Amino acid sequence: MPEPATPQTPVTFPSAFLWGAATSAYQIEGAVREDGRTPSIWDTFSHTPGKTAGGETGDLAVDHYHRYRDDVALMADLGLNAYRFSVSWSRVQPTGRGPAVQRGLDFYRKLVDELLAKGIKPAVTLYHWDLPQELEDAGGWPARDTALRFAEYAAIVGEALGDRVEQWITLNEPWCSAFLGYASGVHAPGRTDPAASLRAAHHLNLAHGLGAVALRSVMPARNSVALSLNTSVVRPLSQQPADLVAARKIDDLSGGIFHGPILHGAYPEHLFEATASVTDWSFVQDGDLTAIRQPLDALGLNYYTPTLVSAADADSRAPRSDGHGDSSHSPWPAAEDVAFHQTPGERTEMGWTVDPTGLHELIMRYTREVPGLPLYITENGAAYDDKPDSDGRVHDPERVNYLHGHLSAVRRALADGADVRGYYLWSLMDNFEWAYGYDKRFGSVYVDYVTLERTPKSSALWYGRAAKTGTLPS
Ligand code: NOJ
Repeated sequence: MPEPATPQTPVTFPSAFLWGAATSAYQIEGAVREDGRTPSIWDTFSHTPGKTAGGETGDLAVDHYHRYRDDVALMADLGLNAYRFSVSWSRVQPTGRGPAVQRGLDFYRKLVDELLAKGIKPAVTLYHWDLPQELEDAGGWPARDTALRFAEYAAIVGEALGDRVEQWITLNEPWCSAFLGYASGVHAPGRTDPAASLRAAHHLNLAHGLGAVALRSVMPARNSVALSLNTSVVRPLSQQPADLVAARKIDDLSGGIFHGPILHGAYPEHLFEATASVTDWSFVQDGDLTAIRQPLDALGLNYYTPTLVSAADADSRAPRSDGHGDSSHSPWPAAEDVAFHQTPGERTEMGWTVDPTGLHELIMRYTREVPGLPLYITENGAAYDDKPDSDGRVHDPERVNYLHGHLSAVRRALADGADVRGYYLWSLMDNFEWAYGYDKRFGSVYVDYVTLERTPKSSALWYGRAAKTGTLPS
C-alpha cells in the first residue's frame, strides 16, 4: 500500500545519497543508422510486423542522440545528482566483435563529460538488451561465444570511459534477456524455446563474470562493478506446502538462477531438478561457476511490483498473465505447475499493483543475502496515462504518490540497517517501452511525440525537490 509520510515526520536521507534517473540506449537514443551503428536485435524485432504495439520502433525514439545536451541540462535544472544510461553495443562494436568505432564511443564520452560538468554522477550499463544482430545470427545468448564477445566489448567501453565513470553495471535484468527474449518471445529476439532460455541465462551469468574481470583489467581500481537484477518479490497465495513450492520455484527462476552463481558460486539447490524436463544443464562447463563469481562492489535492484503465485490446479494450468506481456508461451521454463495471480490494490497503466512493501522486502532480502554489500535501486517507477492540461502542464499525482511510497520504503530499509546508496527513478523521460511501444509513459518528464518537446511532469519537480533537500516533500 502507498505509505505517504505525514508532514510531521519528514523523511530525510543520508547526505551522500544519489538521486538519479535511469534510461537505456534503445529506448531513448534514436539515430539507429548514424555514425556506423548497425542493427541490434531490437531493431530487427521492432521492425518485424506484430512484435510491438502499433509496429512502433526505436528508430527515432526521443532523439536523445542529438538532444543529449538539453537532456543533461534538464536533469541539472531538476536537481538530480546521478544518471544511469546504457551503451548501445552495436554503436561501438557494430558486428559485436573486433575493433571499436570511435564515433560511437565519442558520443558516450561527450555525454559523460556533459554530465560531469553539471555535477551529475554517471552510471554506465553495458548491456540493456540490445545485442548486435550479427551475434544473434551466430547463436545469440544461448551460444557460449556471446559471453566471450561481451567481455571484449566490456574492455573496449571500460578502456574508453573508465577514467571518468566510476559506476559500472554489466547487465540490466538478465532475466528479461533470457526469458522474455528466448522463452515467451515477447522481447527480442522473440524465440520461444525454454531450453535455449536456460542456456541464455547461464551465458548471461558467464558474460557478467568475464565482463567484470575485463572491466577491472582496464579501469582504475576505485571504480565500482555491479549488475542490476529484477528478482521477483514472490508471495505465495497461501502457506500450503504446494503454494510454497510454487513460490520457491519462481524465486529460483527469477533471482537464484542469477544471484546464486554470481554471489555464491552455485545454482540454487532445486533448480536443476525443477527444470530437468527442459534441459540437463550440460552447457555448464568446468570452471564456469568460478568465472561467474567475481567480487561485486555493489548490487543494483530493479523493482516495480510483487508477484503472487500458487500451485496450479487443473483450471489454472493454461498460461496466465504474469505482467510480462501476452504470449501463449510462458517466460518461466518448466513452471506449468505454477499459477500467477493479480495482487490486490491500486494498479499502474501496466496493470502492475502499487506495493512499496515489496521494495522494502527486496532490499532486506539482499541485505541478508550478502551482508555489507552496498545496494542501489537502479530502477523503480510507474507508467500512467499522462496528458498535458490546457495550461500545458502535466500533473501526475499518482506518480508522486508512487515515488513517495517507494522512497519511504527505501528510507525504512535504511533505518532497518540496509546500505542503500542511491535511487534511480525509471525513467527520466517518456520513451520506447519495448513491446508496448510509446503507449506506456514511465517518464517523470513528458515527451510530446510529435515535437519531441520535453516538459517536466509534477513528479519531476517533486523528485527534484527531494533530490535538492534530501527530504521527501509531503
Ligand atoms: C525494466 C527495464 O530495465 C526497462 O527497460 C523498462 O522500461 C522498465 N523495466 C519498465 O518496464
